[in-house]
Amino acid sequence: MSQASARAHSNIALIKYWGKRQTHLNLPAVGSISVTLDDLYTDTTVRFDDTLDGDCARIGGAEVDVARFSEFVDIVRAEAGIDTRVAIESHNNFPTGAGLASSASGFAALALATADAAGLDLTPRALSILARRGSGSAARSIFGGLVEMHRGITTDGSDAFAEPMLDASSWPLEVVVAITDNTSKKINSTAGMSHLDTRSDYYEAWVNRAEDDLADMRAAIAARDFTAVGALSEMSALKLHALMLSTRPGLIYWNAATVSAMHAVREMRAGGLETYFTIDAGPQLKALCAPGQGAAVAAELARVPGVLDTRLTGLGPNAHLR
Ligand code: DP6
Repeated sequence: MSQASARAHSNIALIKYWGKRQTHLNLPAVGSISVTLDDLYTDTTVRFDDTLDGDCARIGGAEVDVARFSEFVDIVRAEAGIDTRVAIESHNNFPTGAGLASSASGFAALALATADAAGLDLTPRALSILARRGSGSAARSIFGGLVEMHRGITTDGSDAFAEPMLDASSWPLEVVVAITDNTSKKINSTAGMSHLDTRSDYYEAWVNRAEDDLADMRAAIAARDFTAVGALSEMSALKLHALMLSTRPGLIYWNAATVSAMHAVREMRAGGLETYFTIDAGPQLKALCAPGQGAAVAAELARVPGVLDTRLTGLGPNAHLR
């Protein structure tokens, strides 16, 4: 029997990933740039145990369908040359499956814990590639601070990994998460992006423009230009949602409170409190804030009708064993 425990932090993309160039190895159609969040994380323990008849997994104490996790652990079993079944115990310190990137932190923590328990000594890059197989955004959660995920061009996925850009202390940005719904989302990201290429008239434009957006964001980050980073983030989020809305049937992830919070962010900006929103495949809004500005933004967002809760966080560290 061998066991390992890992913690990985959630992340949100400032330049978004949406669409795949290959599904089997989960290769993204576009690169992405994200921030890793300190206060939102997943703790996962993986136990390889000869006495188990089959794999099993629990999230937050509740038994879950193990199929997606078994498939993932199979990759590690093949690499390590073992056949032992696993018990996975995972806990998110935030709502699961509600657009707060639980699959990102979840598969990053699972990658690290499984590889370690199986006796594999993987580099951070190899861990990022492994995490990507579980979920594209999970490749980014291997690293802390600001992170870039490369789309890669090879068919074996060896160049589709994330890399750290800046660590959290180099530019201590803050993020306020405005929670507008605590329930699991109806259509997860994997399902949402599955028919994109044939169904959205905007998809080609989305892919063609991605490299320029990434280059603009790299330059803005290198210059520590918060206004440019924020404006690009808000643009990428709105562009993503335009793409989602234009699939058939259109994916509408926002609720009324999400839209109210978007307006509130713009009103704050007009009033001199500089913050920018980003939104993933769910109804929560995340406001990107300059260092030291998060508390003021959180107080404003908490007043928006329909905002149930807010969480203020700084940028987090690399995924790590515990
Ligand atoms: C909107 O990484 O959850 O959050 O690779 O199919 O697991 P799969 O998708 P996932 O998609 C994330 C989409 C997004 C944007 C982003 O995080 O870049």
